[in-house]
Parts: sequence; structure tokens; C-alpha cells
Amino acid sequence: MSWKSVMLCGLLIASLAGGARAQGPAPPSTLKEAFKDSFRIGAALNQAQFEERDERGTRIVTTQFNTISPENVLKWESVHPGPDAYRFDAADRYVAFGEKNKMFIVGHCLVWHNQTPRWVFQDDKGEPLGRAALLERLHDHIRTVVGRYRGRIAGWDVVNEALSDDGSLRPTPWLKLIGEDYLAKAFEFAHEADPRAELYYNDYSLENEAKRKGAVELIRKLQARGIAIAAVGLQGHDKMGWPTLAQQSATIEAFSALGVKVNITELDIDVLPAATRQPTAEVSQSAQAQDKLNPYASGLPDEVQQALAKRYGDLFGVFAKYRGVITRVTFWGVTDADSWLNDWPVKGRTSYPLLFDRNGEPKPAFEAVIRAAAPKAP
Ligand code: XIL
Repeated sequence: MSWKSVMLCGLLIASLAGGARAQGPAPPSTLKEAFKDSFRIGAALNQAQFEERDERGTRIVTTQFNTISPENVLKWESVHPGPDAYRFDAADRYVAFGEKNKMFIVGHCLVWHNQTPRWVFQDDKGEPLGRAALLERLHDHIRTVVGRYRGRIAGWDVVNEALSDDGSLRPTPWLKLIGEDYLAKAFEFAHEADPRAELYYNDYSLENEAKRKGAVELIRKLQARGIAIAAVGLQGHDKMGWPTLAQQSATIEAFSALGVKVNITELDIDVLPAATRQPTAEVSQSAQAQDKLNPYASGLPDEVQQALAKRYGDLFGVFAKYRGVITRVTFWGVTDADSWLNDWPVKGRTSYPLLFDRNGEPKPAFEAVIRAAAPKAP
């Protein structure tokens, strides 16, 4: 569907809905405009987008979104590839792009078990690092990265994915080598490096009760230590049937009750057949390519397109209801062609998880999301 037909469609809906009030204003035609009184709307950018080499992608970003996240360029392996090597050229361009366009700039992420080089956890003989040495390395990393963008990156995913599906702390090298307080330390180091930055805990599948309970307990413990967590990030790598709207609401309410905001940080909705036993977003998982796992290689059937639009509309209905708690909804990518779900957990699939198609045109899901922003008639 082209931009022109979206506009025409919008006008038609407005005039039908308006009936006698046919002169009513047309619905907004951009995401950031539609949600301006509710929350920020964002996207994770790849390098071609923030370097403005992908002109079409860049145009969608500057037109539709008012907050950006870096898909990869601020991860440990990108900015700190060797013990004495920091590399900031790409990250500097990401931040400059956000400033140029007056966007709310997010940093992702300081502590994670993926995309972190092996040397981080080893001494120069290749032996596991002790607690004090690893803490010192973490302190140096956070001070250098957060300090560089102090006052410019407005919020940081300090710790990403620290929990297992059962709600216990995930047995990462961070936990094994430092102990439970690695999370508190990371937040303290980040606060020290930029006292005004918002600090977040970010994870997937918190909509499932066991993991959510673990996260609630974790946030409580950090708060008891005097750490100010601004928001919990729900990644939102969703499926057509998961999470249910009831799970989505219960999750937002559980964190809101702790006095923190909720951000939807990595939203996409997967319409392809499941390739993992449980819904997950663990990037180290992989599955063998098979034709039956890639059913829409030559296009998305209309009924699936419409079902995706409805699913997006339903989820945004919930987000809009919690507009006082949710401060940001960020999509993990701009168009379907950019999505990580084309290569994860199965390489080379044709995935349709976002609001813009492979030609950069808005999908029916885009209109469904815009419609969800409009206050319902009494
Ligand atoms: C993904 C990126 O989109 C890919 O380009 C990269 O190869 C792997 O990581 N959860 C996260 C994100 O927190 O950082 C991941 O991003 C997707 C899952």
C-alpha cells in the first residue's frame, strides 16, 4: 500500500466515522504525531540508516520516529573490541544523527552475555578473571562509554537479559565471576558516569509469570540498595498468540506497582512458524533452515497480513491504555527487510514483523497502530 492510499484511506475513515461531522480533522499520518500525547515512538537503527546511506530507510526514520536505539554499534564487541581498544566512530555517528534530528537517544547495552568478546572474562593467560579484576574492567568500560556520551545519550540499557526463563539469575560469566551484585555495580558505575541519564533493566519474556516474578524481585533488591531504575524495558519480540493481552497488561501493571516506568524496547511480531520450543529472544539459539519454516518466501497472504494488522492494533490498544506508565515504544528495525528475524533463529527466512514492507511502504499494520492511538468514541 502506498503513502497516497494510506492518506486517502485515513480521510475516508475519518469522513465515515465523522458522519455529519464530515469536516473533522484527518487522522495523523505519522506514528510520532499519532502518539505525541502518549509516549515516544522509536526504531532500532542499523549503520546504513544513521549514516544516511539507506535514503529510504533514513527518510522513514526522520518522518515517523522521535527516539532511536542502536541495533549493534554500542554493544561491547563493537565499541570495546580489545582490552586496550575502544572504537567509537560508528557510535559517534549514531549519536550525531539523533542530535541532528532532535531525537531521544537510547544506549544499548552495557552488560550482556552476548556480543561480548571472550577476552573480557579472561586474564592475559586465558584464565578466568577474578572478581576484583572483572569489576575493574566493567567500571572502565562503563565510565568510558557512558562518559563519552554524557548528557547526549538520554537513557541506557544498563543490564540486558540477566534472567533465565524460571526467573532465577542467568548463569552468565558476569554472575559466575563477580557474584549477584554485578547488576548493582553496573547501575552504580553508570550513574557515576552520567548522573542525569535514565537507567534501565531490559529483558525478554517478562510477560511469562515466573520470569516476571524474578524481575520484580530483582528490581526490588536494586531499589533497596538505593539504585534509581527509571524503567524496565520489555523487549517485545512477540508472536501472533504470545503474549496474550492479559499477560501484557499484567506485566505493565506489575512493574508500574514498583514505581518504575515501562518501555517497550524491541517490538516486532513474528508471523513465521515457530522454530524454537518456547517463545524466546536468546540470540545464541539457532535452528536448521527448512522450507516449511519459510512459508512466505514469495509474499505474505492477505489473511496473514490482516491478522498481523489486528494483532498490532490489539497490542497498541493495551499500550495506549497504559500511556501514563509507558514512556516509549521502540520497534526493532524499520522495514521488514532490515529485521534480525530474517536470520534468527533460522538463517535466510523472509520475515514480516514490522510496520513497513520491503519497499518501505506502510503495511495495514501501520494503519491499525495509528487507529489504536485515537481516543475511542464515548
Ligand atoms: C540483535 C541484532 O538485531 C542483530 O543484528 C545481531 O546480530 C544480534 O542482536 N535482544 C537484544 C538485541 O537485546 O540486542 C538483539 O539484537 C535482539 C534480541
